[in-house]
Amino acid sequence: MKVDVLLGLQWGDEGKGKIVDVLTPKYDVIARFQGGPNAGHTIEFDNKKFVLHTIPSGIFNKNATNLIGNGVIIDPFVIRKEINMLRTGGVEVGDNLLVSKKAHLILPTHRLLDAVYEKSKGKKKIGSTLKGIGPAYTDKVSRNGLRIGDIERGDFDERYRLARERHMFIIRHYEKDFETIEFDGLPFTEYEKAWTEALSGLRALKKVNSEYFIDNSLKSGRSILAEGAQGTMLDIDFGSYPYVTSSNTTAAGVCNGLGVAPRNVGNVFGIFKAYCTRVGSGPFPTELFDNDGQQLRDIGREYGSTTGRPRRCGWLDLPALKYSIMLNGVTELMMMKADVLNEFDRLNVATKYEYQGRQIEEIPFESTSIGIKPIYESLAGWKADIDHTNNYGSLPKELKNYVSFIEGHLGVPIKIVSMGPDRTQTIYR
Ligand code: GDP
Ligand code: IMO
Ligand code: MG
Repeated sequence: MKVDVLLGLQWGDEGKGKIVDVLTPKYDVIARFQGGPNAGHTIEFDNKKFVLHTIPSGIFNKNATNLIGNGVIIDPFVIRKEINMLRTGGVEVGDNLLVSKKAHLILPTHRLLDAVYEKSKGKKKIGSTLKGIGPAYTDKVSRNGLRIGDIERGDFDERYRLARERHMFIIRHYEKDFETIEFDGLPFTEYEKAWTEALSGLRALKKVNSEYFIDNSLKSGRSILAEGAQGTMLDIDFGSYPYVTSSNTTAAGVCNGLGVAPRNVGNVFGIFKAYCTRVGSGPFPTELFDNDGQQLRDIGREYGSTTGRPRRCGWLDLPALKYSIMLNGVTELMMMKADVLNEFDRLNVATKYEYQGRQIEEIPFESTSIGIKPIYESLAGWKADIDHTNNYGSLPKELKNYVSFIEGHLGVPIKIVSMGPDRTQTIYR
């Protein structure tokens, strides 16, 4: 057996949660391998809607085991809220959720650091979700982090105190008034208290050496799907640095985020929206500032699942998709939110960029989109309300033409076209 991977090819929010949930019946194990509560994965079925941040999107299927891998960073406060939300919604969370002992913890002072660093950047801010992602991964890499397995250690409180003190030294340098910064509606001191109480919830979860769990699962023939968070264009190495997240969001992240050898990676499912969105700062060559952009935002309900911020919207960007397909070795594509384009007369698709007087198809090094002009091809829209068809053949010819046009440029088959947020609004080709 090999580990299949599903990951975002754009700037996140492609619809990963929906498709992981749709694919879960085919898999025994669903595993998150990177990121943390900066993610917001939406799943809709039976008129219910759930947004997950840390827990894999396989949790709604009773037969699946869900693993939070070593590459993920976990905030006890956030995961406790998430588990409560699921249980209130009638979803079982117990032995079907495993947590790697090697996953790192997000401390309250990581969130404070995130906030003061962002504030100090002024106009150059990253537009972080302020969940403490950058500072927590920084501590991991600088060998100062605290891990899930450390919670059980006798010296945990002392290690927490030392980390806190180290963070506070920096926080006070940036912001004297840090006590007034609120997290989830709580001023810092109260938030820290709630965070500490939430540790007990984390203690109650089933913890594993996840690399052995994965290896044993593969050896016993269990099928595994790795669920990416964020998107390829936000990858720490290959995204538009510094306007990126702090983990490897690409297929390579599966290897170190779960302990999977490269030769054990199987299919790589690349998921993209039929247009583009981005939250936070950073280059976005096809961004629209006109009525079309507003229409995409309104019809696509493009507001962040984690922060509620309006998402920046634009036309589909094929050079960016080609780049992502190259980096991930994508074997199959899934096109999401095609229904959002139902009302458009014409659709633009960027096939190249004009940059420094030349036409290019590669993503340039520069971390701003100033000077990058997309070159568009215009395609006819389908102007039809497509309601609940599962039959690809019966779709309007303009929609099929849009799919073939993209496929032709990318050279990878589009196997799923999604026509709505619900599980059932999924068309297989
Ligand atoms: P993720 O982070 O990749 O899991 O995506 P998000 O959940 O942040 O954002 C995707 C949004 O689009 C969610 O609100 C989904 O419910 C919704 N969605 C997913 N697929 C479709 C689709 O095909 N059409 C429409 N209209 N909405 C979709
Ligand atoms: P999912 O998994 C969209 C963006 C933030 C910001 C940058 C850095 O739902 O697709 P961070 O909080 O990581 O320090 O923010 O990355 N970002 C996301 N954008 N979807 C996400 O996750 C994101 N996670 C982070 O908006 O620009
Ligand atoms: Mg999201």
